[in-house]
Amino acid sequence: MKETKKRISFAGPSITQKEIDYVTDAVKNGWYENYDKHTQKLEKTFAQYVGAKYAIATHCCTQALHLACAAIGLKKGDEVIVTDFSWVATAYCIFYTGAQCVFVDIDPDTWTLDPACIRAAITPKTKAIMLVHTFGHPAAMDEIREIAREYELLVIEDAAPAIGAEYKGQKVGTLGDVGCFSFQGAKMTVSGEGGILVTNDEGIYNRAKLLASMGRTDSQGTFWSDMLGYQYTMGNLTAALALAQMERVEELLAKKRKIFSWYAQRLNTVQGLKIITEKPDCKSTYCYPSILLEESILADRDQVVSELKKRNIHSRPGFPRMSRFPVCEARFENPVAALVEKRGISLPSAANLEESDIDYVCRSIQELL
Ligand SMILES: Cc1ncc(COP(=O)(O)O)c(C=O)c1O
Repeated sequence: MKETKKRISFAGPSITQKEIDYVTDAVKNGWYENYDKHTQKLEKTFAQYVGAKYAIATHCCTQALHLACAAIGLKKGDEVIVTDFSWVATAYCIFYTGAQCVFVDIDPDTWTLDPACIRAAITPKTKAIMLVHTFGHPAAMDEIREIAREYELLVIEDAAPAIGAEYKGQKVGTLGDVGCFSFQGAKMTVSGEGGILVTNDEGIYNRAKLLASMGRTDSQGTFWSDMLGYQYTMGNLTAALALAQMERVEELLAKKRKIFSWYAQRLNTVQGLKIITEKPDCKSTYCYPSILLEESILADRDQVVSELKKRNIHSRPGFPRMSRFPVCEARFENPVAALVEKRGISLPSAANLEESDIDYVCRSIQELL
């Protein structure tokens, strides 16, 4: 097959004059009385976009998740039910508080937390459920919220790659008690590093806000701190870039969904390939279009990924189950997550890809299988 010189990147942003103008404005004017102008505007714009009352922009989503865990009061002795299939930040932010993770399996069709696995994992110590809108596909929120209501558990949504995803017409991140998104460079809207917490709960917001700014209240004079807090707030320069991207979010979302449709057209009929496709009532961002090599396919997943790389196509293998990492003391059998870990691939969906690039990726995959 004809080689391409173009790097087919796994992810990467679309940067226009708007981003350059906003960042330039922040560099030139974002000081003195304007020192947090873009951060404030980003928080307002983002909250409006997802339909949340409150937003706090952070240096990264990991910090937003940590704030969420701390603000709902997680502590040593508590347990949180969490999907086993995610980037490790999802679990570590729980561990930061001293609470333990109880890892459960995923739905084979969406790779999000399987509600059928939750009940068996609940103990008297369970305080919350942490779900992930995996690769931009909404988790099964009705079922999860129903169980949370029944057992009086709080729900944290890790919506890192899911800016713009919807469940029954409502933006994800606002369906639980608190939601967190990422602006890291491979996400839907980027600022290099960046994150944001959203909530409709005033108490969670107030605690998170205090924790994010060193517990500072000025209640007993300037620089007074009332509690052990963190320096987690997002700077103005970063916010300027995130804000420009958020003003283009529909365009960026449409491109991701277009890229997915190019994959689906070409791969839907390939025997033994399962394409993760949005379920009814769900709008996926398709941040990372993903496939599973089913049993009938003999090709080795890691070999497929490395052969694609030789063709300048940069895909990603499925996440290792977080429960296997050394910091997790307990071990969990989660067979679906184990299968996706071994046989899953996320395909390139950088914003600069054209239909002809996707065509090249799909022809390469078919050849390698
Ligand atoms: C599901 C998930 N949660 C959390 C994070 C952490 O985001 P950040 O890199 O902004 O801290 C990521 C980042 O890739 C992620 O994919």
